[in-house]
Amino acid sequence: MTLDALLDSGRNHPRRGFLKVAAALAAALPARLAAGLPAHDGSRPTPDGAPRHPQPPRVDGQRLNAILRVFRQFGGTDDGGTTRLAYSSEDIAGRRYATQAMRQAGLEVAVDLAGNLIGRRPGTDADALPIIIGSHMDTVPGGGSYDGHVGVAAALEIALTLHHHRIELRHPLEVVIFQNEEGGKTGSRALVGRVEPHELDIVTASGFTIRDGITRLGGDPARLEEAQREPGSMAGFLELHIEQGAILEAAGIQIGVVEGIVGIRRRNVTVRGAQNHAGTTPMNQRRDALVAAADFIRAVNDVATGMDGRQVATVGRIEAVPGAPNVVPGEVRATLEIRDLEMDRIGRVFAEIEGRARAIGADREVTIELDRFYESLAAPTDPRFRDIIEASAAELGYSHLRMPSGAGHDAQSMAELGPVGMIFVPSRDGISHSPREYTAPEDITRGANVLLGAVLALDGVG
Ligand code: GLV
Ligand code: MN
Ligand code: MN
Repeated sequence: MTLDALLDSGRNHPRRGFLKVAAALAAALPARLAAGLPAHDGSRPTPDGAPRHPQPPRVDGQRLNAILRVFRQFGGTDDGGTTRLAYSSEDIAGRRYATQAMRQAGLEVAVDLAGNLIGRRPGTDADALPIIIGSHMDTVPGGGSYDGHVGVAAALEIALTLHHHRIELRHPLEVVIFQNEEGGKTGSRALVGRVEPHELDIVTASGFTIRDGITRLGGDPARLEEAQREPGSMAGFLELHIEQGAILEAAGIQIGVVEGIVGIRRRNVTVRGAQNHAGTTPMNQRRDALVAAADFIRAVNDVATGMDGRQVATVGRIEAVPGAPNVVPGEVRATLEIRDLEMDRIGRVFAEIEGRARAIGADREVTIELDRFYESLAAPTDPRFRDIIEASAAELGYSHLRMPSGAGHDAQSMAELGPVGMIFVPSRDGISHSPREYTAPEDITRGANVLLGAVLALDGVG
């Protein structure tokens, strides 16, 4: 079965047979590599069978975008989106396919104790620290097919390109697929010792707790602390990602050079009132948790809107208990999330929201608890890495722009281990976390080539 036939068969049956497809695709990849197919620049194999790599080397854009299409076999939905919730069977199948691709790229594959999938390639200098590239493959419910996936596919493609062209790096290279990025960056935060014990009990969107999820992926939640890496243990981390906003598209710019990533504070919100009969409880005798939650949601929006600056605050999930038309809700469970590039400002927004929650509680005779869920530290990218990425884009003739990231990324956890850099490619209409998320194949190839150039530059200087 050819690669194209595999992709076509999957397109017709997006939810069926993905394991079979993954296995068949894994078998097809080596044939494609062994055949020494031309790279997208048209370079041909040398007489000894090794392809002569272009100078400087470029990724194979067709293969890269084919990998992305194959990812859709694992949770792709008919509307063009993907639902591949962390720890779900789709997640596990997708990682199995990525494992095969890593092996095809000559990487040594392992799952760490936190459940991150890691492919390693040795460097020529035994003392050199690893250069790490990667992103995540899990999605939000009803998510898109590019968020995280582009960075993973590009990292796999770069490993394939290096392998195919027999390019040795001085530094070891690690391709990392972080687990549960969307549910709290569990994989990358475990690497920096930031996953708190209570988080293991959080029930994720797939229905599995983080504890069970880590086990499902092949990690060991009881030994999570051992997954932690030492600060200074890497030469650097580079992540390619879709912008998820509309700045690049509006400006007609091809590459974003990320200057910093927002910090995130998430809280579980519990509003407790009194459950009662919706027909017999007079309006002035109610302690309606959902009405109080409505006040709270409005207050969150008012606080974030009313302050100067670019902070954002969101109540993204809400559930009334018991949730019946004829019952005054006694309890509401919701989430609160605050983001900004400065942790201090997040603290100020949170303090004001806490004050408003106390006032609402007193007014509506309910309690409002804001329990710790998780926190990601805001992270500037490394100034030297920004220069390297910018130079890589300039060398390829791509327009570029420095910009902040309002979305969270695994790179912000990795910033605690050493220097990080991030490359953005345009998102159509700025839409993300939606099936309508889209980035053009040419943009993805451009981003991967900038990433490859940055890896090679870092290998030369670091
Ligand atoms: C990740 O997509 C996030 O910003 O929440
Ligand atoms: Mn992402
Ligand atoms: Mn996301």
